[in-house]
Amino acid sequence: MAGRSVTARRRRVEEVVPAAARTIASLRDVGYELPQAVADLVDNSVSAGASTVAVDLHFDGTDSWIRIADDGRGMDTATLTESLRYGSVRDYDGNDLGKFGFGLKSASTSQCRRVVVASRRALERARVEVRALDLDHIKKTNRWEILVVDPADRPPHLVDPLRDTTGTVVLWEDLDRILDYKDPWGGWAKRRLLDRAAAIAEHLGMVFHRFLAGKVRGHKLQILVNGDVVDAWDPFCTEEQATTALPEHDVPVASEAGMGIVHVTPYVLPERSDFSDNAAWQRASGPLKWNRQQGLYIYRANRLIQWGGWSRIRTVDEHTKLARVALDFSPDLDAAFGINISKAIVKLPTDLRDEIEPVVSQVARIAQQRYRKSGSKGSVRTGSISTGSRPTPPSAGPRSRPSAEATYPAAGLRPTTVETNVHSSGTPSPVEQAARQAIEAAARAAGEHEALERIVASLRRTAPEVARDLGW
Ligand SMILES: Nc1ncnc2c1ncn2[C@@H]1O[C@H](COP(=O)(O)OP(=O)(O)OP(=O)(O)O)[C@@H](O)[C@H]1O
Ligand SMILES: [Mg+2]
Repeated sequence: MAGRSVTARRRRVEEVVPAAARTIASLRDVGYELPQAVADLVDNSVSAGASTVAVDLHFDGTDSWIRIADDGRGMDTATLTESLRYGSVRDYDGNDLGKFGFGLKSASTSQCRRVVVASRRALERARVEVRALDLDHIKKTNRWEILVVDPADRPPHLVDPLRDTTGTVVLWEDLDRILDYKDPWGGWAKRRLLDRAAAIAEHLGMVFHRFLAGKVRGHKLQILVNGDVVDAWDPFCTEEQATTALPEHDVPVASEAGMGIVHVTPYVLPERSDFSDNAAWQRASGPLKWNRQQGLYIYRANRLIQWGGWSRIRTVDEHTKLARVALDFSPDLDAAFGINISKAIVKLPTDLRDEIEPVVSQVARIAQQRYRKSGSKGSVRTGSISTGSRPTPPSAGPRSRPSAEATYPAAGLRPTTVETNVHSSGTPSPVEQAARQAIEAAARAAGEHEALERIVASLRRTAPEVARDLGW
């Protein structure tokens, strides 16, 4: 009928269900490395309120397995079944590490062909429910089916971790992506699996460092890898006296869910001889080592999702390796950061990029100066720069501004402010010289020249770069 809109008509539809075998096979490759895949399961444990997560790698030829066991809330039968649905549905709270309903399935199948999940919900009852997602079963049936695993088919290493606690065990079997199957019983295959434990521990110690250090309220976490406690790796070495925390910034960013805030904290790490000892310097280098660990550390709900690199704001450079900048956002800004299923790739929102470019220039310049001075030590010995007090991560309680804010010029977010305050060559610029002369003249006129001398002496200790740039 003329004038009647298409939408007003009743639509004819056909349901097109994805072909299970092909879909599941292609979802194995959404970009997980083994440590990232394990971290995705630890996310789930954190969301379930776990205080301990034990990761174990066990070599037994083709029967080798990897197990991630937590003491969290566990799941009832319906939730367990739902947990193995691609695109599983539940409510998320504001700081939830989960988002898409994919992680458990896609992270697990990125490494293995069979994932078995056992869960115990109540301490009063010993009841443990077990389900399995088996790629060979799905390949054979081409149906979205999971297996109900009877008590007789549950090996002790699957259910033992749940003997005295509620919680969830995820067991990866048939590790086709990890083991070298040309000789699955060989020493090479064994070494290859067990070597991965160190890489997993290092990665978990980095991405969950705030949780491990007890800095996330209500989420104190311990992680064990093959029985060894994982140490938190703090990218900013905030325990080191000579680390400099530059002024923090809150940058408003627009996203689908409205406006959100990204909290920015730049740090310049001490140069080698100002670390408390050589071991601390080596450890500060990080899993990717000094050069590649410089740059942006992006935290989503306190969990690190990018660890270094400058997101194309500048290039990685030996001279700026001491510069590391924390960016914190909460999941309401996910869309602005382009968070994807593996939560591994982020893009910087344009408005954030514009605002932090001058902050990055400033921290890079100060890091460069520190690096250069370390090279000329012996001839020019500078004191270390100290923040005096360590900054508290934003999540760990009331925000405290580091005292470096008083030491360094308030770094407005405009490049001009930064440029005029710190001159990169180490020689005072005309503006810097004029500033020094004006301050000295004002001190003399006020009869406070001696006070100025004491202030300058103090500045040389607390911010030698600034004193030097002003010609003092
Ligand atoms: N260790 C666990 N303890 C309790 N519940 C769990 C655990 N692991 C998974 N679940 C349940 O299974 C669901 C699916 O997990 P999955 O990782 O696939 O998705 P998600 O965490 O909701 O989102 P994302 O894809 O962002 O990780 C979770 O939402 C949760 O309800
Ligand atoms: Mg998840």
